[in-house]
Amino acid sequence: MESFREIRPYSELQADKKEQVTVMFDRIARKYDLLNHMLSFNMDRAWRKKLIQLPELKKAEKILDIAAGTGDLSLLAAENRNAKIVASDISEEMLRIAMRKIQKKGIQDRVECVLADAEALPFDADTFDAVMVAFGVRNFGNPGKGLSEIYRVVRPGGAIAVLEFSVPGNPFFRNLYLFYFRRIIPLIGRLVSGDANAYRYLNRSAEAFPQGEHFCRMLSDAGFLVTTSFPVTFGVARIYAGIKPEHEKLDE
Ligand SMILES: C[S@@+](CC[C@H](N)C(=O)[O-])C[C@H]1O[C@@H](n2cnc3c(N)ncnc32)[C@H](O)[C@@H]1O
Repeated sequence: MESFREIRPYSELQADKKEQVTVMFDRIARKYDLLNHMLSFNMDRAWRKKLIQLPELKKAEKILDIAAGTGDLSLLAAENRNAKIVASDISEEMLRIAMRKIQKKGIQDRVECVLADAEALPFDADTFDAVMVAFGVRNFGNPGKGLSEIYRVVRPGGAIAVLEFSVPGNPFFRNLYLFYFRRIIPLIGRLVSGDANAYRYLNRSAEAFPQGEHFCRMLSDAGFLVTTSFPVTFGVARIYAGIKPEHEKLDE
């Protein structure tokens, strides 16, 4: 099987950033896993593991992995439970690699790949027990819109879990981080993937993206009750979680 469910044709996916991001991930897809593990010294695996071990995700039986990329988070989640998982992404090439890995593990009956834009999800309201996003939100054309869409498709009482880069607060680690992200990553990224822009984009988007309490506010603005926000590895990345309230707040 070499095809996946395409719910929104590419022609309908608009906005400049969105197109650029999609083309960029399509281009680096084949080198993505290698560079991910290499540039993070394999820490990305530990961070994803921490994310799926969140108590907010423990009982979820129907999970949506948004911006699933090459599928590592979905695979990890599928290893540890009997849940049904939908791995969705806007990049066809990233998703193609995810699908190969899923087929290799023989778990395609539990993990489905869906080509979709996070800002216009092709799912009914209140469909999923949990939605998880690893290193995806900062890439959305409009992150607020993406979070509102996630809120819509999570059932009341269900959870959102997000893993995203952040800049360490401690001045020593901050300077080290900035040097590594600004100087070393673009260099190695260019040498291995042949795409200098993609890895320059990584540090720019990571530095510019709201973190900590600012991102918690974005989650609250989308309607979630924030339950968790903590740094991993000296604050190089951060894990957030929230719950969709059982009862929507009524306007006074
Ligand atoms: C840095 S990768 C993260 C992949 C994966 N979650 C991981 O942990 O390795 C970011 C992914 O976000 C996807 N993406 C960017 N904008 C998106 C959008 N609007 N809707 C869905 N996916 C999007 C990209 O195609 C890419 O696969």
